[in-house]
Amino acid sequence: MEKLTIRDFDPAGQRVFVRVDFNVPLADGRVTDDSRIRGALPTIKTLLAAGAKVILASHLGRPDGKVQDGLRLRPVGERLSQLLRRNVPVTGDALGVGTEDAVKRMRNGEALLLENLRFHAAEEKNDPAFAAQLAKYGDIYVNDAFGTAHRAHASTVGIAKLLPAYAGLLMEREIAMLSSLLEKPKRPFAAILGGAKVSDKINVIDHLLTKVDLLILGGGMANTFLLAQGKSVGKSLAEHDRVDDARRILAAAEKAGVDVVLPTDVVIAKEVTRGTEYKTVGTEKFPASWHIVDVGEQSRAAIETALADVQTVLWNGPLGVFEIPSFAHGTKEIARFLADKAEHGATVVVGGGDSVAAIEQQGLADKMTHISTGGGASLEFLEGRELPGIAVLQDKPTPAPKSKKAKAGATA
Ligand code: 3PG
Repeated sequence: MEKLTIRDFDPAGQRVFVRVDFNVPLADGRVTDDSRIRGALPTIKTLLAAGAKVILASHLGRPDGKVQDGLRLRPVGERLSQLLRRNVPVTGDALGVGTEDAVKRMRNGEALLLENLRFHAAEEKNDPAFAAQLAKYGDIYVNDAFGTAHRAHASTVGIAKLLPAYAGLLMEREIAMLSSLLEKPKRPFAAILGGAKVSDKINVIDHLLTKVDLLILGGGMANTFLLAQGKSVGKSLAEHDRVDDARRILAAAEKAGVDVVLPTDVVIAKEVTRGTEYKTVGTEKFPASWHIVDVGEQSRAAIETALADVQTVLWNGPLGVFEIPSFAHGTKEIARFLADKAEHGATVVVGGGDSVAAIEQQGLADKMTHISTGGGASLEFLEGRELPGIAVLQDKPTPAPKSKKAKAGATA
């Protein structure tokens, strides 16, 4: 169901409470990846330009209801101020008299960022009293925090029941892009899934098997599938208690006519560390005390051949131990290959921290059709689940079917 968005109300002079997902990585008090902040700019700029008072709210990290100085939103406020080229003050607390006064003093076209919502345990409990206090700051609620839409918290669900609730432009784009993958992909449609654990992605794979034509598996999770094929993986990361699931998935794929591509050669290392000894071997003969750390060259070529005619690609998760440069080749090469495909007209949607990092590091982000800002949220969406932070927003009215009389009138 499509949602009403910020285009569906007049923001002029209104206090608009905007839930954003500014849960971004920090190092030495600075934001190291600002893509989530940049993702929310279209909504914030549109509202400011229309003369709204924009009250922004986010969580950062998991402080478990306690104030943690390292999780204050000041560095985020600084980065946002740079990007907007205007000062966005950060309050000392999400609640309290100081914050209420700061909201009262706001003029049209100004923005304010509330301090980390999760300094209050009530946020994650979706406490109605906390939601009501937040709701007092705004006349209208906007959710642009797609990355947090899978959480039923006070600022994502509770408050949306107290104010007229709309989707922001980032939320709208994420829903549209991910829905179009599930509902009307250009075919053939391939999913490339990597990352450490198959247990995190079983539900996604099950759902995608009903949608895709091709499934490519890599990263640590592929090792569990190699075990299911009766191969040995030495000391590699693998989930022995999930081998049955992997076997079931392979059988289901065959039944559904979905081609599955698994590594046939792999880069293996003595230790999963920088500077260790490593080499490429076939998956048939595996030395017992080594670890799989990347896909091999033959597997990379097989992946690219399988993807040659594909029109739509969803990619989530790295194909190797991406954080160690010698084991990042598979992930980086697939990023370059997909960027090229996107430039030649394929739809390429990418989600998940390390796959997105591989793209950003190589300056390929602009070439992709869409890079999702949601990690857990995009996976739950792709599982076909309804996300609570989306469900609670107002639906677009469905146009009434034309009556026979009206149709007759129109042709008369
Ligand atoms: C995320 O980074 O996935 C979102 O910001 C949600 O964070 P959470 O997993 O701590 O709820």
